[in-house]
Amino acid sequence: ADIYAPARENAKGWDLHAQTDLDLIDTQRGKFRSRRWTAEALMVAKAEGGQPKAIKNPALPEDQVGDVVWATSRDVSQAVSDAKPWQATAEERAQILRRASNLYEENFGELFAVLAREAGKTPLDGVAELREAVDFLRYYANRGLELEREARGIFACISPWNFPLAIFTGQIAAALAAGNAVVAKPAEQTPLTACVAVRLLHEAGVPTSALQLLPGLGKTVGAALVSDPRISGVCFTGSTATALSINKAMADNADPTAPLIAETGGLNAMIVDSTALPEQAVADVIASAFQSAGQRCSALRMLYLQRDVADTFLKMLYGAMDELTVGDPWRHATDVGPVIDQSAQSQILDYITDADRAGRVLKDVAAPSTGTYVKPTVIEVSGIADLTREVFGPVLHIAMFEAEELDDVVADINATGYGLTFGIHSRIDDRIEAVTRQLTVGNIYVNRNQIGAVVGSQPFGGEGLSGTGPKAGGPRYVAKFTRSEAEPVSS
Ligand code: NAD
Ligand code: ALA
Repeated sequence: ADIYAPARENAKGWDLHAQTDLDLIDTQRGKFRSRRWTAEALMVAKAEGGQPKAIKNPALPEDQVGDVVWATSRDVSQAVSDAKPWQATAEERAQILRRASNLYEENFGELFAVLAREAGKTPLDGVAELREAVDFLRYYANRGLELEREARGIFACISPWNFPLAIFTGQIAAALAAGNAVVAKPAEQTPLTACVAVRLLHEAGVPTSALQLLPGLGKTVGAALVSDPRISGVCFTGSTATALSINKAMADNADPTAPLIAETGGLNAMIVDSTALPEQAVADVIASAFQSAGQRCSALRMLYLQRDVADTFLKMLYGAMDELTVGDPWRHATDVGPVIDQSAQSQILDYITDADRAGRVLKDVAAPSTGTYVKPTVIEVSGIADLTREVFGPVLHIAMFEAEELDDVVADINATGYGLTFGIHSRIDDRIEAVTRQLTVGNIYVNRNQIGAVVGSQPFGGEGLSGTGPKAGGPRYVAKFTRSEAEPVSS
């Protein structure tokens, strides 16, 4: 099979390019810089709802981006009662999803603005995220045409704040392409982006009964949704701990075959050996660890440097870090924006303070004091076993290794139980092959950065504690939202 065909197929429809994007950002700035959005449940029935809550810009606390009216547990039950699998033909569904992808492009300015103001996305991240969402819509629309299996019924789609448009859209598009109904619950931090996206999906022609939105708290609305026995499956992206609790909640589902498709966290490593090209490796470490303020599940957390080249490499790395601009996400020059909120900021800062007290902080760079910024920081550890949890921010851990310790390094990475992304910089083919063969990791990147998997050509997903598969943006994903003939239909 030609594995690159889907990427080419997506590229045909892609009509934005970098300069157009940047011009658009400038022209839309005035229009959307002070817009206020309201997120509320978009259901067949009128929602009961709760009290409105203000959503603030993480970079600029005085900027109120909008309000959210949380759905209630009663709304969950009503939404599931009203959900109806999408009765259109596969061809009609694909056409509507493609129409939605075009609407996303036409509404680039609004989507970029809400991503920047609600989630702190920089131009680089916001544009990439919008492209990924468009790619998911087109790619899954096409995969839906290849299915010869039945939709499962009603899917709960539960998404995180770090890709509030791309992951949110990708989950929904896959479930809809297969003909299911979706009840979508976005992350608490980013309901406004979700609301703009669902408005466009409905405008494209997705019926309300096939797609309902429930902005709500994970512990109440999310928990009620995944434990509703009428749900035919859950598509979840977020932390490993939440995936485990959803797994338990689904134990009483009326359909014992209801799948949990979970994409979770990682403790992602990169190895840089003495043959690596330092200029390239430094740029790739910077992008992998600090782009998106480190708030990617794929981000580099643990860099293993061969000791022979460590002094030279670190000098170059610190020089490159000094060039990073940390600040207002809406400016073209910004490399690193804020982290998502004060709670995330204080957890990361506490972690850095502890490391600093232990004398392990090797380097950090300046960041604004207003807004939820965290300085990109390098911390020395003895190995990946010292990482007790996924620190979801611009924090890079570094350890040195000797050439003869390489097998131990690989064993330590596998021993974490996670397996999302891994990077290696080396110019020894046999070494690259030996290391990548031994690792149990979903996505491996050689002599490049380890973030930003491309829909259709780099299916994305982890092993072990990092996810259940199938990989998002890959050829088997949409089929997981269908029922094989051998499986019973729940009553
Ligand atoms: P999270 O698990 O706290 O929240 C994710 C979603 O689950 C949110 O919508 C939340 O409201 C909901 N939720 C929380 N508790 C729930 C419950 N008991 N029942 C049902 N739903 C519940 O994760 P987060 O902090 O929003 O996102 C960051 C995490 O996501 C990181 O661990 C990151 O690695 C992971 N992530 C993974 C991928 C991937 O593709 N593997 C992509 C992005 C993020
Ligand atoms: N799919 C995203 C990436 O590859 C998370 O960075």
